This record gives sequence, structure tokens and C-alpha cells, in this order.
Amino acid sequence: MSFQIPRGTQDILPGTSELWQYIEEKARDICRRYNYHELRTPIFEKTELFQRGVGDSTDIVQKEMYTFEDRGGRSLTLRPEGTASAVRAFVNNKMFGLAEQPVKLYYIGPMFRYERPQSGRMRQFVQFGVEAMGSNDPSIDAEVIALAIDFYKELGLKNLKLYLNSLGDTESREAHRNALIAHFEPRIGEFCSDCQNRLENNPLRILDCKKDRDHELMASAPSILDYLNEESANYFTNVKKALDYMKIDYVIDERLVRGLDYYNHTAFEIMSEAEGFGAITTLSGGGRYNGLVEEVGGPTTPGIGFAMSIERLLLALEAEGVELPIEKTIDCYVVTMGEEAQTISNGLLHELRSAGLSAERDYLDRKMKSQFKAANRSNAKYVAILGEDELQKDEINIKEMETGDQQAVRFSEITSYLTKKLKEETGE
Ligand code: HAM
Repeated sequence: MSFQIPRGTQDILPGTSELWQYIEEKARDICRRYNYHELRTPIFEKTELFQRGVGDSTDIVQKEMYTFEDRGGRSLTLRPEGTASAVRAFVNNKMFGLAEQPVKLYYIGPMFRYERPQSGRMRQFVQFGVEAMGSNDPSIDAEVIALAIDFYKELGLKNLKLYLNSLGDTESREAHRNALIAHFEPRIGEFCSDCQNRLENNPLRILDCKKDRDHELMASAPSILDYLNEESANYFTNVKKALDYMKIDYVIDERLVRGLDYYNHTAFEIMSEAEGFGAITTLSGGGRYNGLVEEVGGPTTPGIGFAMSIERLLLALEAEGVELPIEKTIDCYVVTMGEEAQTISNGLLHELRSAGLSAERDYLDRKMKSQFKAANRSNAKYVAILGEDELQKDEINIKEMETGDQQAVRFSEITSYLTKKLKEETGE
């Protein structure tokens, strides 16, 4: 009997996992520079957190959650996104009381959504996201957006487009909501059953409907930007101004509503415009969620964040032909001849590795020629040749693979010799 991997999931094998590590390191580095700190939360949470946080009327909650009952009869859900958990952790740990505000957090971890799998859409995917809670300054909106854009650019992506919208505050949204109901109600019978439910529950969601997107009423639907009250309009202007000062280009998209319910004011998505990227072009999305902390039981606290999946980022890198600088080498391959040399090489390998070098040897009792082939395959920079003669003479040949140069070195000096040579190479 053979087992297949579950649909919408993937194994990340050596050769590819190095790309993931590189990207994750870059994510941690940019967060360090922007002063965001890592938060790690559980993979599952109480189902209610997402129902309240993400919103009952969203596709995520209605159709896509991995929900199960544990042995104690509690309803738990594999997290479909990171914001609700970050906000829960913020509230549970009373981070609103910290001296340093806003609290700037980031996370990298797997999320789960029961979606129809296709390129760029997985059932388990890894999000890198940031959340800043505790400030209502439009500059922090721009900072969060800049972090996302900088991250992509530093990795080498060029064909990006930032789409920006404002969903306004509660008052503006209410006015827009009424306008949407008035617009769609007379002809709601022509829409899908989901949209018919959305009319009362959350008419904004109608604009996001994939089935009805070509209906003529969609194009003529009232724009949120015409319903922003003065405060919301000013806020939006200030976000745009901050982005202008950062020289970050954006396109205003009044149709951008996002698929989660917690947003107000700023909403944004970053798309890939690379040719051949495929049908799903959204690389990341985010926005402001000023009501969410309160919704999850904390004091009124503004927040903003974004998330991106590493899967889609890798697709964009591939579409743009960006090669990440992954080093696939080892410092020293120890070639052995004879049983005694094999045994002694264990000590040498241990010493090299303890000194911080990467080192490998043969474990299949292969002939010298095959060992050299293996050293080549692993891109060894140096090969140390350990034969019985060499050991007796205490003169071990070290071959630099790139130049073919050989040097006789005393056994006890191999580690210091290689350490020095490798340092010279990197110019340290
Ligand atoms: P989201 O738009 O649902 O927002 O997801 C953010 C990003 O996660 C997407 O742009 C995409 O890169 C990735 N993503 C989502 N679903 C999948 C999937 N099935 N397969 C692969 N990648 C996927 C959020 O999750 C919000 N929590 C973002 C946020 C943070 N807003 C404020 N703070």
C-alpha cells in the first residue's frame, strides 16, 4: 500500500528547502531593520476566534476552515490566517500594556484553507506576515506596505504593482453599505445564492464574488471612495502622502475589498505582473483593522498588517527568472583509502565540523575514484586525501578543487589550514 500526499499540500525537498530558508532569513532580516519582532502562536485555535475575527460571512469561515472536535468536545480550527491569532495573543498577553507602542510583530508559519488547489493556491501554505497594533498613524500603514514592497524588491522581483483602497471608518462604511443595498436590491434575484445572502449580511462581499463579477451592476456599483467621511478621506490622503515620500508607486483600486471582514480604512494588495505567473496574481494582501482587538476581547486598539505566502513568492521569482544566491557547497570532503584511514577520518570530520566547517566523507566503502566523484557532486571546495601512507608520513594532501592545486599538510594542522584558506577566499 502506498500513501499519497494530501491534496493541496507539498513536500519541500532538499534542493528547494534551501530557497525557503534563504527567503525566511531575508524576512527575518527585513523585520529586524523595521523593528518587528517574531510572534509564534499555536497552529490551531478555538473555532470561534476565526468566526468572530475573520468574519462569519467570509468564504474562509463558511467554506474553507479545517475544523475538528478534540477529545474534550471543543471545536478547534487549523488557523486559516495569522491576524486573528496575533490579535488574540496581543490581548491574552496584555501587550496593549507594554511601554513600547505600537507593538510590531511578525510571523512565518503554515496556514490551512480548504480551497480548490491550483498553482499558487494550496491547502497548506506558509505565510510571512506582520502586524502593528496600537497606532493610528497613517505612517505606520505606509511602513507596513513599504516593508512588503522592499522585501520583494530585495529578493529581486521587479514586476510588482501595489493596489490601494480605503474602506473608510464605521460611519463611511455604513453609508456605503446602504448605497450598495439600494443598488443591488432591485435586481438581487439575478445574482447567485451566496450574493443574495450577502445583500443583508455583508453587501461589500458581493463586489468580491467570482461568479457574478461580470454582471452589469458590478461595474456601476457605488464606490466606497465617494462615501468616505472627512476623517476617513484625510486618513487616506495621509497614507498616500507617506507612500509618495517613500517613492512607492501605487494604483488606487476602489473595487479592492479584500476577503476578510476585519478591515477598515487602508486596504492593499501587491500583484505580480510577471508574464507567465498564472491566473492568481495576488502576492500579498493586508490592511487596517481598527475594530479587531476589541472584537477579540481587548481594549479599543488600532492595527494594521499584511501577509504573503512563500509559495506565491517562489512562483513569482520563477516567473521573473530570479535565481536566489544559494550556496550548494561543502568546505571539505575527506577521501579515505583503507580501513584505518576510514576510522581515523571520523576524528578529522568531527574536528572540522566542531570548528565550523562543513565536511563530509564516504560511508559506502567506495573506491577512491567514486569518492572523488561524490566530492564533485557535493561541490566540495577542498578534498583531504587520507591514505595509510599519508598517515604514516603525517603528510596529508589537500586538494583545492577549483584550481587543482595540492598541498601537503600535517594531520594535526588540517583544520587550521582549511580555516585559514576559507577565510582568505571570503576575504574575511
Ligand atoms: P489573505 O489575503 O487571505 O490575507 O492572504 C494573504 C496572502 O496569503 C495572499 O495574498 C497569498 O499570498 C497568501 N495565500 C492566501 N491563501 C493562499 C492559498 N490558499 N495558497 C497559497 N497562498 C495563499 C490574510 O491572510 C490576512 N491575515 C492578511 C493581513 C494581515 N491583514 C492584516 N494583517
